[in-house]
Amino acid sequence: MKILVTGGLGFIGSHTVVELQNEGFEVVIIDNLSNSSEEVLNGIFNITRKKPVFEKLDLREKIAVREFFAKHTDIVGVIHFAASKAVGESVENPLLYYENNLNTLIYLLQELQQKPEASFIFSSSCTVYGQAELMPITENAPVQQAMSPYGNTKQIGEEIIIDVAKVSNINAILLRYFNPIGAHPTAELGELPIGVPQNLVPFITQTAIGLRKELSVFGSDYPTSDGTCIRDYIHVVDLAKAHVVALQRLLDKKNQEKVETFNLGTGTGSSVLEVINAFEKVSGQKLNYKIVARREGDVVEAFANTTKANETLGWNAQSTLEEALESAWKWEKKIRS
Ligand code: WQD
Repeated sequence: MKILVTGGLGFIGSHTVVELQNEGFEVVIIDNLSNSSEEVLNGIFNITRKKPVFEKLDLREKIAVREFFAKHTDIVGVIHFAASKAVGESVENPLLYYENNLNTLIYLLQELQQKPEASFIFSSSCTVYGQAELMPITENAPVQQAMSPYGNTKQIGEEIIIDVAKVSNINAILLRYFNPIGAHPTAELGELPIGVPQNLVPFITQTAIGLRKELSVFGSDYPTSDGTCIRDYIHVVDLAKAHVVALQRLLDKKNQEKVETFNLGTGTGSSVLEVINAFEKVSGQKLNYKIVARREGDVVEAFANTTKANETLGWNAQSTLEEALESAWKWEKKIRS
């Protein structure tokens, strides 16, 4: 069966392409290479010995999207990763985010609703919960006022999908990621942040390899065990596998509603200092860091209640924080060698 993966040369997308190929799916990738490189295709091939079809295409080009689907009429499912995802950038350039994250979703759905049936997996984020009241966070936690245009595009995207699914033959699953980290164990795929990394783990590995002088820890005066923020760090391969399980659920028509939502995390929260300590343990080297002021917009704590994903989706995260950090470190050393 042929599956379209938009943003399939990106961090989570490329790892998901590998898992789709491992399950025997034929994969077509659309990517505009704005935050990835065609080199990633070689990484995928080196792991699975199968080269996916790749079409460089910007999903903001409505006609190009229509022509793509006219050419690939046998696509039965779409996993939609393609979007801009930097929280800070979205605050500075909201229209870039509303255009790139929403117009593209609309053009995709317009094509899918023409098909007799379509399975749609949407890349969402725990950011839709804002600072949730209760930990661990369940899928019933209220969606709160977005803290950034990026987060707002995820909330609006979910609502668009729900409205369209009601009046079309599209069945969808919304996957709300917690914090994806790590790299493929073969070190053939991993995170390739452009410029200064915004996220914690790539900044840690770049500091450890000597690319960055020191890590700034954004605040140690939060109401947590050690004063630093808590997150649910999930190995990107575990996350990728969840996408294949979710897609198969729709293809097998096992979904109980037109649109289902799942939190994807490990169910365990780790503080920034705990991540640093775990990294020092797996890398065998001290990390150079300093405590600085809080970062605007950070929530204090966010980790997933994974019961629904475990019991309904039949999926569990397998890797520990240390294993994920070890894979991230192995990748950093590989790409800088
Ligand atoms: C994690 C923790 C920081 C960098 C964001 C998006 C989310 C998703 C993942 C796209 C926080 C601290 C970080 C640093 C630090 N993005 N930190 N020093 O903010 O939880 O989630 O990225 O899908 O939608 O919101 O991830 O890795 O940026 O931060 O102390 O140099 O690490 O304060 O507590 P975040 P993060």
